Amino acid sequence: MNKAVLEVSRLNAGYSEINVLKDVSLTVKEHEVVTLLGRNGAGKTTTLKAMAGLLDDYEGHIRFFGEPITKLPAYRIGRKGLGYCPEERGIFSSLTVRENLTLPPRTGDAAWSLDAIYQLFPKLKDRGGSIGTKLSGGEQQMLAIARLLYSGARLLLLDEPTEGLAPVIVKQIGRLLLELKAKGLTVVLVEQNFNFALKVSDRFYVLDQGEVVASFDREYALRNKEQINSMLGV
Ligand SMILES: Nc1ncnc2c1ncn2[C@@H]1O[C@H](COP(=O)(O)OP(=O)(O)O)[C@@H](O)[C@H]1O
Ligand SMILES: [Mg+2]
Repeated sequence: MNKAVLEVSRLNAGYSEINVLKDVSLTVKEHEVVTLLGRNGAGKTTTLKAMAGLLDDYEGHIRFFGEPITKLPAYRIGRKGLGYCPEERGIFSSLTVRENLTLPPRTGDAAWSLDAIYQLFPKLKDRGGSIGTKLSGGEQQMLAIARLLYSGARLLLLDEPTEGLAPVIVKQIGRLLLELKAKGLTVVLVEQNFNFALKVSDRFYVLDQGEVVASFDREYALRNKEQINSMLGV
């Protein structure tokens, strides 16, 4: 049995007076790719932000590799090896690819060398001197993931990594995620693209209006695509 990387229990959170998450609980085990599905506004991003230490206020408990990280500031959670990539990817447009890559502090044994990064992302090596604004959306997404690996992340939280990308790039990201999984990483994805998620995920949680309304594994998802699509309103 793989050990639990992330254990979220009964998360309740919101913004000022508005309650968004209601008793969200989920577990992610080592080497899993777990996807949070749900319509726009369901609370997927808010859930990732709570895990990453970016929500001001919430109730509930979060453990990372067994250790409580509830309400720790983001930088401390990051140093423990939890890597968060926001939907907007967070690439500094005035810095070069190499500067973006090597900017965050490095921690733990999990931090990848530049050589290892460039082996998996040869394009980033070729484009090392280009500034952020010159990168395509796909290159920015790759850079954002590479930066988490360089910093030593053992768990990647990726918010809609395929959003706005051409199908051929989406495929590349899918291959990359499977490779990372094979290398021992654990991934939590937020995806609107269920077909993409189906290709890479071991398990799923569906959020609706801030609640987990369903959870199932890949086998179930493959057998019940239509039902799930209608649950997602697509
Ligand atoms: N910064 C914010 N301030 C106030 N309300 C927010 C903020 N961010 C998100 N919300 C609200 O919280 C709910 C969940 O949003 P979010 O977690 O971004 O959903 P999802 O990622 O599933 O689309 C939505 O109703 C959204 O309008
Ligand atoms: Mg979102």
